[in-house]
Amino acid sequence: MPRPYQPSLLRLLHGLTAVLVSLAWLSGLVVYSNDDGRWGRLPLQVGGDWIDIHGTIGVLLWPLAILFALYAISVGRRHLRQPANLIALLALALAVGSGKLMEEDWLKDGQLDHVVYSVHLLAWLVMAGAVLTHVSAVLQRGGMPLLRSMVNLQVRANDLPRDWPGQIRRALTRRG
Ligand code: HEM
Repeated sequence: MPRPYQPSLLRLLHGLTAVLVSLAWLSGLVVYSNDDGRWGRLPLQVGGDWIDIHGTIGVLLWPLAILFALYAISVGRRHLRQPANLIALLALALAVGSGKLMEEDWLKDGQLDHVVYSVHLLAWLVMAGAVLTHVSAVLQRGGMPLLRSMVNLQVRANDLPRDWPGQIRRALTRRG
């Protein structure tokens, strides 16, 4: 079987998204523990303005998530037939969408009963489940070679940034 290869534009968008999602997830956990804590708290108090840190990560994540989603539904649409890929993308949309509707002052003022905040909390849980499902589906389908293909830094000579516009054009004119 040939070694799996992922296009460089996909690896760039997917990699940056995965890093920012992880940072948003972890900083979200600290925000929950510091400013909510209804279902328990982390065993240690982490100092700092974590609402601000989490918000800044969110501001970086949402334009990137839009670019990645546009790529996934156009150039990568065949891969969205894999349910676990689609689930990861939908979880991203739920987390980023509900995060955009959050207001910074709600948690600072102790307002924990906003529906949008409940949806955003749920999105945090859904995201964890979706990424675990996604990564285990990747491992089941193609094992470590497929997993590694997404984090590999090697780029083929015909897959450089100058080739990206052509790749997008061909994908948009392709059927199915
Ligand atoms: C953190 C949030 C993540 C999201 C939202 C996400 C989303 C997606 C989506 C939508 C695709 C299909 C892309 C396309 O072909 O256009 C994909 C593919 C893939 N992802 Fe992720 N992903 C995430 C994390 C990860 C992680 C942590 C790994 C592990 C290294 C991973 C490994 C892969 C692999 C190997 C593929 C290619 C699978 C295939 O060919 O169908 N992903 N991901």
